[in-house]
Formats: sequence, C-alpha cells, structure tokens
Amino acid sequence: MLDYLIDNFGRRITYIRFSVTPRCNFNCVYCNSHTGETDKDEEFSTKDIEFLFSVMPEVGVKKVRLTGGEPLLRYDILDIVKALKKDKIQEIVLTTNGFYLSSVAEALREAGLTRVNVSLDTLNRDTFVHVTGVDALDIVNSGIKEAIKYGLTPVKINTVLMRGINEKDILPIAELTLNSDITVRFIELMPVKDNNFWKMHYINFRTALALIKKKYELIKSTGGSGEVASYYRIKGAPGKIGFITPISQHFCKYCNRIRITAKGEIYPCLFSKEYISIRDAVKDRNKDLLVSLIRKSVDIKPKEHGVISLSSQDFINNMRELGG
Ligand code: 5AD
Ligand code: SF4
Repeated sequence: MLDYLIDNFGRRITYIRFSVTPRCNFNCVYCNSHTGETDKDEEFSTKDIEFLFSVMPEVGVKKVRLTGGEPLLRYDILDIVKALKKDKIQEIVLTTNGFYLSSVAEALREAGLTRVNVSLDTLNRDTFVHVTGVDALDIVNSGIKEAIKYGLTPVKINTVLMRGINEKDILPIAELTLNSDITVRFIELMPVKDNNFWKMHYINFRTALALIKKKYELIKSTGGSGEVASYYRIKGAPGKIGFITPISQHFCKYCNRIRITAKGEIYPCLFSKEYISIRDAVKDRNKDLLVSLIRKSVDIKPKEHGVISLSSQDFINNMRELGG
C-alpha cells in the first residue's frame, strides 16, 4: 500500500536527489569542495542502489535525480539507470557537466533516462576554463547536441550567476532558447564551505531578468509540477528561461525533496548539518529498517533554511557529496 512521506510541515516528499559519486573531472569555482581522495569503494554498488530504490515507489517517490560530483564518471551509470527503471521510478533525470555526454546520450536514453540537465555557465572558451578548470566548452556543446538528438528532452541548461565572471554570458545563454526547445535556468549562487566566494560574486536573479528584458519581451510561462524555478519565454521562442532563486526568494515552502549521498547519508535539506545514515540498512538489505530511517529523515526536515546574508553561517558543506 502506498504510504507517502509527509514531513512535519505538511510537505509530501516525492523527489530524491541522489549523488552517485562525489568524484568529478571538473573543479568549478562555485563548487569549492575538492574531494579528490574519495574512496571509490565507499560508494554504493549497483546492487545496493537497486535495493535502495526498490522501496521508493511504496513511499510515494516518483522522481529521482542522479547527481554528483559527475555521475557519468561511474562506469555502471547505465546499469544504475536500468535498476531505477526496474524499481519503477517514474521519472529518472540526471545532472551532468556534459563532458562525457556525447558518447553515452543514446545509451542513457535506451536505458530509460527521461532527460538531462547540463551545467553551462558561459559560452566563452576562456571563461569556461576559468570556471571549470577544463578546456572543454566544445565537448560540452556537442554533448548537449547529442542529448537533444536522442530525445533526453527538454534539455535543461544550468547557469550559475556570478558577478565579475559570467554577466556577459547571460544574454547569449538566454538566446539559446530562441532556436530550440531548450530550457535555460539561471541559478543564484549559493555559499559553499564558507561565504568568501559568495560575498564577492553573488548576483540577485532580478539583475539577470532586467538584462534580458532590456532586449526582449518576456512572457510568463510555467514549469513542471514541483518546479522551484519561475519561468518565462522570449516572445515567439520555443525554449524557456527559468530563474532558481535559493537566496533572494527561497522556495522551502514547496520543497518536495531529500538528498542521499553516494555512501548512504540522507540529508533532509541542502543546508542541513544533520544527516541519517542508511548505509548499514542498505548493505544488510534490511527493508523495514531502511524505510523507517527514510521516514526519520523526513521527520527531521527543517521548515526552511536561514536567511543567507554577508554575516550568515548558513552554507553548504560539500556540494559534491550533496549533489547540488
Ligand atoms: N551555487 C549555485 N549552484 C551551484 N551548483 C553547484 N554549486 C553551486 C553553487 N555554489 C549547481 C551547478 C550544477 C548543479 C549540480 O548545481 O550549476 O548545475
Ligand atoms: Fe564537478 Fe559539478 Fe562541482 Fe563543477 S559543480 S566541480 S561539474 S560537481
């Protein structure tokens, strides 16, 4: 029988973000959480993942996002997608830096992946190197093309807004929506590890919105259900432009998600310091314990995160473990 996960504030949890690995081949300036020495053996195996998600439909989980780190670094990523499909997860999506996307887009689609989000903060080669540490703009662009070609659509582009780094890219990235059914989402920079980078580079989404409005007429649009972004379309354009505003207008009230790390810790909120370990329950294949621990993690989900300000101590400890 379906028995939903409902938290103490009446929010129904139907969405899990699962970081399949904290490892990454990029080193983005805003991620700031190098875990180069991560032990691969600590990560859940394909079989662990299959067991973990087999309990999800009966607690009402409908959507799973595979994140990282970089999820395509896992050699068994296709098997993971197939396992989730077998576990009857309705919507399986993946967030990637796009580096390996062109070679696996078709196979991911065949394995049952619904669609992809690709991080792309700039269309300028030098800025791309500055942001990610890797000279791979063309590779990522061809990954996006292949994802569209094989129907991992609508492909969503994630662009983190950063003062002094990619303001010049806001308009050209928004213009990607003019010619194809792409969704571009501008994300407000969140503080990771400490506040220093954030203090220097945070931009409120309204700045980006105003910049686009100066040149184009924007029509209000909608996202899918449980969407935390507000959406617009440039008049006549096939694609959409969204704004994700964790800082200026946090969307905690509509939060429908929890996060699981690669080694099996459930974080009820991106800003949580508290977590529940499900590692032993998964390794022992103890279904009752697993379900009760998942419920416990929902029980400790905070109402909202604090106001992020110059002096605030609310920051994200490790983006790669937590999966963005
Ligand atoms: N602030 C906002 N977004 C971030 N991401 C990673 N770190 C940050 C941050 N500090 C986003 C990236 C990526 C997704 C996984 O998380 O854009 O698309
Ligand atoms: Fe890797 Fe994503 Fe962090 Fe960039 S933001 S270093 S792509 S995990």
